[in-house]
Amino acid sequence: MNAQNEPMIIVEQISKQFTLLNQGTQQIPVFENLDLTVNAGECVVLHGPSGAGKSTLMRALYGNYLVGKGSIKVRHGEGQNGAGWVDMSRAHPQHILAVRKSTMGYVSQFLRAIPRVSTLNIVAEPMLILGEDEATAHHKAAELLTRLHVPERLWTLAPATFSGGEQQRVNIARGFCVDFPILLLDEPTASLDSKNRETVTAMIMEATQRGAAIIGIFHDKDVRAKVGTRLFDIKPQEKAA
Ligand SMILES: Nc1ncnc2c1ncn2[C@@H]1O[C@H](COP(=O)(O)OP(=O)(O)O)[C@@H](O)[C@H]1O
Ligand SMILES: [Mg+2]
Repeated sequence: MNAQNEPMIIVEQISKQFTLLNQGTQQIPVFENLDLTVNAGECVVLHGPSGAGKSTLMRALYGNYLVGKGSIKVRHGEGQNGAGWVDMSRAHPQHILAVRKSTMGYVSQFLRAIPRVSTLNIVAEPMLILGEDEATAHHKAAELLTRLHVPERLWTLAPATFSGGEQQRVNIARGFCVDFPILLLDEPTASLDSKNRETVTAMIMEATQRGAAIIGIFHDKDVRAKVGTRLFDIKPQEKAA
């Protein structure tokens, strides 16, 4: 694991706008010339009103969106001369997948349930992809599901029919089953009751303590105050008329 305070993510001068194709060529600016560095052991909280661009920034960091210019450098692997850096804004798709496999975990707002895949396997999958044996992966998955109070009778079922809160806890278990050096968390506690919110809060604090670099969006201000080491303001841009 990386030492505390080492930079893990360096975002320089990125801009993002959406082009609405069904309304001529209307441009919707989301953010402009944005800089952000996140170190190991930090949990940076993206802060700003709904629609400001927090989730868009997170998706850009995960390599889902192209950004107009600038770079999104992520520390990945240990090259011969120390860590290598991958620019998520222009890396080859195979490189992006390699970063997602071993460096960067992402808990999105909603679980994308895969039909017929059991809850236990959805949670264990990132470990299995990294080459962990099935027994170890299932054991770790079971531990996380237990900690997050997902009843054992649900583990063999696919989560498509689960409640929003149950699906979100499966999603969190999956995101935390590998000790990723970088974690992106998009409102992971939004649909949870207070007991599970506390569990997730503790899991996030444990991750920063082991040296993870975390970027999170949390609209619960108690969660924000507990897990956040710093706020990063995202201001809504003037929308083009
Ligand atoms: N795929 C998209 N196409 C067009 N506009 C989008 C798209 N995704 C997000 N937006 C717009 O970009 C802005 C930022 O959205 P988002 O990042 O989801 O905000 P936040 O997460 O801060 O609430 C909003 O105005 C939203 O409507
Ligand atoms: Mg959002």
